[in-house]
Amino acid sequence: MTPSLPVARRGATLAANLGLSERVFSSASDRAMAKAIDAGLERVEAGLAREVAFADPIAGASARYLLDAGGKRVRPMLTLLAAQLGDGANDDVVVAAQAIEVTHLASLYHDDVMDESERRRGVPSAQTVWGNSVAILTGDLLFARASQLMARLGERAIKLQADTFERLVMGQLHETVGPQPGEDPIAHYIQVLADKTGSLIAAAAQSGVVFSNADPAYEQPIVDFGEKIGIAFQLIDDVIDLSPKPETTGKVPGTDLRAGVVTLPLLRLREVATADASSAALLERIERDVMPPTPDPAALVYETNTGASRIIASPDTIDGIIAELREHEVTRATLAEAHRWARDAVDALDVLPDGPVKKALTRFADTIVERSS
Ligand code: FPP
Ligand code: MG
Repeated sequence: MTPSLPVARRGATLAANLGLSERVFSSASDRAMAKAIDAGLERVEAGLAREVAFADPIAGASARYLLDAGGKRVRPMLTLLAAQLGDGANDDVVVAAQAIEVTHLASLYHDDVMDESERRRGVPSAQTVWGNSVAILTGDLLFARASQLMARLGERAIKLQADTFERLVMGQLHETVGPQPGEDPIAHYIQVLADKTGSLIAAAAQSGVVFSNADPAYEQPIVDFGEKIGIAFQLIDDVIDLSPKPETTGKVPGTDLRAGVVTLPLLRLREVATADASSAALLERIERDVMPPTPDPAALVYETNTGASRIIASPDTIDGIIAELREHEVTRATLAEAHRWARDAVDALDVLPDGPVKKALTRFADTIVERSS
């Protein structure tokens, strides 16, 4: 992203994104790869601004809003990295990376409406600025643009995009409705994470292999890597949600729980609460004092916090409950589970040749589980 810098500095730019220190990322082949990826990222970035441009003034402003607000560009980077197994960042790889990032962007507009999130990427969410309808329609417009980009690459790309879109929506749907009677809540949750996050990260990596004409033998391992690292990423989010350092995470501790969003520590607590009285007591306090009341399925209306049937706990009480969950073994177990998914992701790369790509993907997996924001 910094074309005028010498190679070593550009390597450092990629290193920062991937979490590779200069010590790890020091050989000539590593630096050559970093240079190629940074050059590819610049092309992706320049094209993204173009692809989200609309002549309509409202669509033009709303569509570029979250792109301009930031983002780590993790998915395009994975596409470019995987493409190093083939021809590198050819034109098709760059277009696929853009399509994947625009799809991700589109999903954020919809997700923030569904989650009623007030902020995204450090700015007010799109629906806070333009209202729900414009935010939803902007997501739709961006998704149309992502499809147009993929259509340039032919039928294979269109199918990859459509299959991934279906999984994103299914993940979001299953998260919304929750596990069905008889379904294991934890297996359901992991499947939600695989669908709503793993699928697009996997598609990003897969596009790199497919459109760089790399050996097809690398395709499935790369897909498995992407899907598993996506799950690890979401599980770390669950742990970060309980972090006592809002200045690092940018979030109030327990944001998910306060919004009624189920996370793995909570699901694990429900599991152990059946056999442990103190866990059962903590669970009761979380469900009574922290989480919003569940909707009445018969009436299909939400009872509010101010409803007479509910006494609101003090902020200190809620903070104390969040802290207890943070210190509980279920949070350590969630962290361990994230590390297990990351290890499995790296194991999936076994068949890849040893070299800079494998090294960078391995370091990337470590960075995902070591992050604190
Ligand atoms: C963020 O998860 C949300 C997703 C990863 C996927 C959302 C998918 C959709 C809205 C359906 C697809 C729609 C289109 C137009 C492509 P999160 O809520 O756990 O994370 P957060 O903390 O970043 O909000
Ligand atoms: Mg969300």
